[in-house]
Amino acid sequence: MESVMKTTYNPHSTILHEVVPVDLPFHAVIQLISLCNFKCNYCLQSDFSGSPLAQRFLKSHKGLMKFDDFKTVIDNFSAYIAQKCPGKKIKLLSLSGFGETLMHPDIIQMIKYTKQANIAEKIQIFSNGSLLTKQMSDNLVDAGLDILKISLQGINPDAYKKTCDFNIDWDVFISQLKYFYNNRKNCFLYLKVADVALNGEEDEKRFFELFSPFADNANIEHITGGNGVYYDPNTEEHRSVVRNELIDDTICNISFRLLELNMDGETWACARFDESGYKGPMIGNMLTTPFAEIWNVGVHGKFLKSTLEHNMQGNCKGCLYANFLSTNADILRGHEEEILERLNKF
Ligand SMILES: C[S@@+](CC[C@H](N)C(=O)[O-])C[C@H]1O[C@@H](n2cnc3c(N)ncnc32)[C@H](O)[C@@H]1O
Ligand code: SF4
Ligand code: SF4
Repeated sequence: MESVMKTTYNPHSTILHEVVPVDLPFHAVIQLISLCNFKCNYCLQSDFSGSPLAQRFLKSHKGLMKFDDFKTVIDNFSAYIAQKCPGKKIKLLSLSGFGETLMHPDIIQMIKYTKQANIAEKIQIFSNGSLLTKQMSDNLVDAGLDILKISLQGINPDAYKKTCDFNIDWDVFISQLKYFYNNRKNCFLYLKVADVALNGEEDEKRFFELFSPFADNANIEHITGGNGVYYDPNTEEHRSVVRNELIDDTICNISFRLLELNMDGETWACARFDESGYKGPMIGNMLTTPFAEIWNVGVHGKFLKSTLEHNMQGNCKGCLYANFLSTNADILRGHEEEILERLNKF
């Protein structure tokens, strides 16, 4: 069976050096929740309760982004677009978490609110799928969800028990996934499994046989790092999350195109983190600061310049995260001066 290995991490096919700095991030990720009903053995969430990052979230927000705060973030994007780039949209807006997205009680309202704001070409959520009842499926589709990414933890109940310590009712789970697929209207269903949850080539083959018939795309994704380690380039074999070739670039392109927000509204131009916190630059807070004072200016503007001047500091020194999560279209090396010139006009 043919496997589909195209990247789903870069929601653009643009030659990046021709367009940066961009008015809007291509991909914005809002982390809504830090609670989970699974304990995946490769995920930071499994020992999250002990990490300083989690303790801060759990203490201040009980693990959830408040709906009012979420609306403030979306309104902030809307005001920025109206002022700076009317008609433009974020290409992909992901609602996810350091936990299970469907456990957020306001998830349907959040999708509806984002859809109505019309600030994103596509809205996607990541989920482990365990709470995907038929009602939930209908609600997600009716709310206007564009992409549902389900992270699978194996190809049978034993693998689930082993990978995420969850007793899954297999028949119910599969019938719920099929229900979503059959009633998805225009929503794209992506089913991915962690490579560490499969046992050799037989399992890989079986995965595609089992799940391809009711997925718009099915894929095996490479898990980087282990428990408590997120994409650690120093300890991992050089393979991207989607098992593509690593790109060869000495300039980190991530901060030119990505935005990540946590439950406090704190905003990073980088998604790399471990249990002690984010590794890239914190560029502002979307709950308190207009996005026009965050994106491409201030801390963000200075950081972009330092990357183009090959002057990376701190955690960014020697970081290969961008090489894992990029394609050749994202390579910036060789175009530093022209990009700097455009950046200086901001
Ligand atoms: C942190 S989860 C949150 C959403 C939801 N609970 C889920 O599992 O899809 C988001 C994605 O990160 C992936 N992930 C978690 N730990 C990872 C690791 N060490 N390497 C690569 N991907 C990882 C998961 O497989 C999932 O697709
Ligand atoms: S990968 Fe998702 S489902 Fe698994 S422990 Fe992490 S947050 Fe929970
Ligand atoms: S160099 Fe690494 S840590 Fe720094 S912004 Fe880029 S991806 Fe993030």
